[in-house]
Amino acid sequence: MEVSVSFLGSNDYPKTINLLNDSTCDYIHYDVMDGKFVNNKNLSVSELKKTCGLSNKKIDVHLMVSDPDKYIEALLLYNISYITIHSEIDNYKDYIDKIKSYGFRVGLAISPETSVNYIKDDLSNVDMVLVMGVNPGASGQKFIPEVAEKIKELVNLRKEKGYRYKISVDGGINEEVLHYVSDADIIVSASFVLNNLENIELIKQFKE
Ligand code: DX5
Ligand code: ZN
Repeated sequence: MEVSVSFLGSNDYPKTINLLNDSTCDYIHYDVMDGKFVNNKNLSVSELKKTCGLSNKKIDVHLMVSDPDKYIEALLLYNISYITIHSEIDNYKDYIDKIKSYGFRVGLAISPETSVNYIKDDLSNVDMVLVMGVNPGASGQKFIPEVAEKIKELVNLRKEKGYRYKISVDGGINEEVLHYVSDADIIVSASFVLNNLENIELIKQFKE
């Protein structure tokens, strides 16, 4: 199991990114919010570029934005592992193709109310499915246990159809809910890990 740590909620991004650079996390997760797709705003295009430059780790960008274009283009200079967009935005299928055409791996996120069935035709075309454990927009929320069923569904579909996507789960992860998400390949966490960096090890050991 890989661990991707979000610095959302930290009040000193450079300091937190430096700590994460020295930690055993596999990815740094960049939560980008535009104030439209979600109410909050986080990381403008220029902040995104600046903070991408600070990471020594693989970068996993989570775009909680209605119009991903300008963010995708800003990421061209960086070594990004995944760019994830939301399936709830208009024309999301066009963005899947666009992200791939630039040579990035693409992730598709499903918010708690969105079913796996809704994205079934995209599953052969994406590199990652990001299952939201909370409603997008803020760190520190409580995990919604019902979403765990979607992880199982994605595992089964991948096996049955020979798909290759990674399954990532994002939001509300802590020690008590780890058992719900043990089938995921990548666990995303902000508050649980940032409150105590040793929790990265706890998540990693969980699957062994
Ligand atoms: C929620 C974000 C998550 C969030 C995770 O909108 O996409 O990545 O930062 O934070 P925790 O782990 O505190 O729920
Ligand atoms: Zn996220």
